[in-house]
Amino acid sequence: MTAIFPFGFSLPTAFYLTLYVLTFVLHQMFMHYVLAGSLYVAWAAAWPGQGSRPRTEQTLSAVLRDWMPFLLSAAITVGVAPLLFIQIVYQRQFYTANLLLWWRWMMVVPVLIGAFYLLYLIKSSWLWRWPYGVRVAVAAGTSICFLFVGFCWTANHLLANSGADWPEVYATGRLPFSAGAVIPRMLVWIGGSFATMSAIVGWQLFYRQTWSEAGAVESPEQRADLRTSVRTLASLTGGGLTIAVLAGLLSIVLGGASSRSLLWSGLILPYLCLTVAGLVLQGIGWRWQWQASRFDIRGLMAATAGAVCSVLGVAVIREGVRLRAVDLVSLAPQHAQAATVGGFGVFIAAALLVSILIAWCVRLVKVSWSPQVNK
Ligand code: HEM
Repeated sequence: MTAIFPFGFSLPTAFYLTLYVLTFVLHQMFMHYVLAGSLYVAWAAAWPGQGSRPRTEQTLSAVLRDWMPFLLSAAITVGVAPLLFIQIVYQRQFYTANLLLWWRWMMVVPVLIGAFYLLYLIKSSWLWRWPYGVRVAVAAGTSICFLFVGFCWTANHLLANSGADWPEVYATGRLPFSAGAVIPRMLVWIGGSFATMSAIVGWQLFYRQTWSEAGAVESPEQRADLRTSVRTLASLTGGGLTIAVLAGLLSIVLGGASSRSLLWSGLILPYLCLTVAGLVLQGIGWRWQWQASRFDIRGLMAATAGAVCSVLGVAVIREGVRLRAVDLVSLAPQHAQAATVGGFGVFIAAALLVSILIAWCVRLVKVSWSPQVNK
């Protein structure tokens, strides 16, 4: 198929790349909740604070502990979609990197399963009756598992993009990238994850706040708890985004002139602007809420829209870097062939059925979960 799209993509390539990026963004949003949530819970367990209510007993920690197992299953489920598209778009690169990573790649699934069980342990009240050392070890161990899984995806991505190094990696078993390439990259997604997590958990706490307003049951302790949650999430967003931006700048500096020229290219520049607009929106959203000392629908909408813009912008910039390393034009026939494979009708039918079932489950939960039940 001829290249009919800007930047030399064929139609099937552009189609799969778009679906890949969109589903990847969805995966990142859920994954951020679990990663940043587990890091926050570990920090709260290690440093419960001097206030009248230890951090572990505050609503923010309780909501995170409650929801992380569900959000992890969501992150894994929506991770399957970009996994399918990446196998179509970058088949050779992806599989070669999988094989070369060998035992490191094989560790991902057992570590993820272990972390899943640990999240249920963290959710149970049973763990929080155990001595301090056990609580901290379990919470810290869980977040280390997620960091390890994230590291494996980073290593896989970097290895897939450095085809010239594959023979040496095969011969020596050593990974070809330095800490200078891996650490700033990891800091971008670790720092950014706090902003996304704050936006999502902000909505959860907003609904709790609305229920207590509706039931007129808000005590001074609850008000103080809300204020603490708003300020903690605003600080986590500000701190996380600062780290992510600094690490991103460091990556650009270390990437040299070619990285800088990519940023100003026609493909990437609009997404760089989108990322910056997202950062500004998040700043505005959390500032409003900080000033009000409450969760506020306008502020949360700004923070959420900002988080989505930033994650999408970074996802496209990340793809731009990969596109430079891979000859997509030579892969176009393979993408065209994949586009002839059927099953779209079955997909639509299954998607409809699953959406109806999910909507029904959400309704069931909503009906049984009312302010009166949860006073
Ligand atoms: C909570 C566990 C997980 C964490 C912390 C995590 C983290 C990450 C991170 C940080 C990246 C981006 C790496 C980079 O660009 O440097 C990534 C990419 C990705 N993840 Fe996840 N992930 C998790 C679970 C999963 C699972 C279970 C799947 C599949 C079912 C999945 C599918 C993907 C895919 C397809 C990509 C894109 C890879 C690429 O473009 O090279 N992830 N993940």
